[in-house]
Amino acid sequence: MITVVGSLNMDLVVHTKNVPAIGETILGDDFFTFPGGKGANQAVAAARLAGNVTMVGKVGDDLYGNTLIQTLKDEGIHSSYVHVTDQAKSGVAMITVTNQDNSIIVAPGANYAWNREEAESFRDVIKQSTIVVFQLETPLPFIEEMISIAHYENVDIILNPAPAVQLSSRILEQATYITPNETECDILFGVSPEEAVRNYPNKVIVTLGKNGAMYCNGHSVVRIAGFDTEAVDSTGAGDTFNGALAVALTDQLPLNEALEFANAAASLSVEKHGAQQGMPTREEVHKRLSS
Ligand code: RIB
Ligand code: NA
Repeated sequence: MITVVGSLNMDLVVHTKNVPAIGETILGDDFFTFPGGKGANQAVAAARLAGNVTMVGKVGDDLYGNTLIQTLKDEGIHSSYVHVTDQAKSGVAMITVTNQDNSIIVAPGANYAWNREEAESFRDVIKQSTIVVFQLETPLPFIEEMISIAHYENVDIILNPAPAVQLSSRILEQATYITPNETECDILFGVSPEEAVRNYPNKVIVTLGKNGAMYCNGHSVVRIAGFDTEAVDSTGAGDTFNGALAVALTDQLPLNEALEFANAAASLSVEKHGAQQGMPTREEVHKRLSS
């Protein structure tokens, strides 16, 4: 079983040719609401690829919260560890999508209503997992405690350090895999992707967008080549990568093959709008890998 511990957000998305300057108002194009949040996205990515997935998270007692839980259920994800709180509103993400890239502001709301003490109640679900996946849209003390529990219980850990913050040496040590993109790599380690992967062989995997990913196998730096795709919306590409990586590692693929699988899945996800809509099935990934 794969357990994803993390955020659920409702994504409020505007497509626009330009972005406003501070103090400016502009007219954009279309508006969409999509279920998102890095945690939920990673859970959905894994479930689409036929993973057995449990989500740990928190939503508010509101309409978005109901929809976010229902989305998990529709994808076959176990949602009984998604708590509903009346202390905060469900998380939302304001997303602008332009031709070049997207930018996101997250109002974490209920995703941030965790404290360190609550971690212990998830020991059993963590124990039953083969791998636990984390991001950084929930409070760091809670994540630190959950990672300690997973580490103690000998369960593999993927930490997707997004959005990036400084991490303690203990987290860096206890995580089995850490998957920053280039920007996050710079914030976390202050060195180039090559140097970061060399410093943490078989642990740090830097995702490079359309250029694939890299890691170090202990001897040399291995590059996983990107795919030439028609990207329409890269929102959730990193999440697809992490969810797919969890599935491939649960299937006991060696790391280089697991990364090829994750990379192919991510490349498919950018071909459709929204974080979750383009997330592929296993068949689609295999087709891309053999093309
Ligand atoms: O990684 C993409 C996600 O980041 C979006 O779905 C948004 O909710 C933010 O959490
Ligand atoms: Na997408």
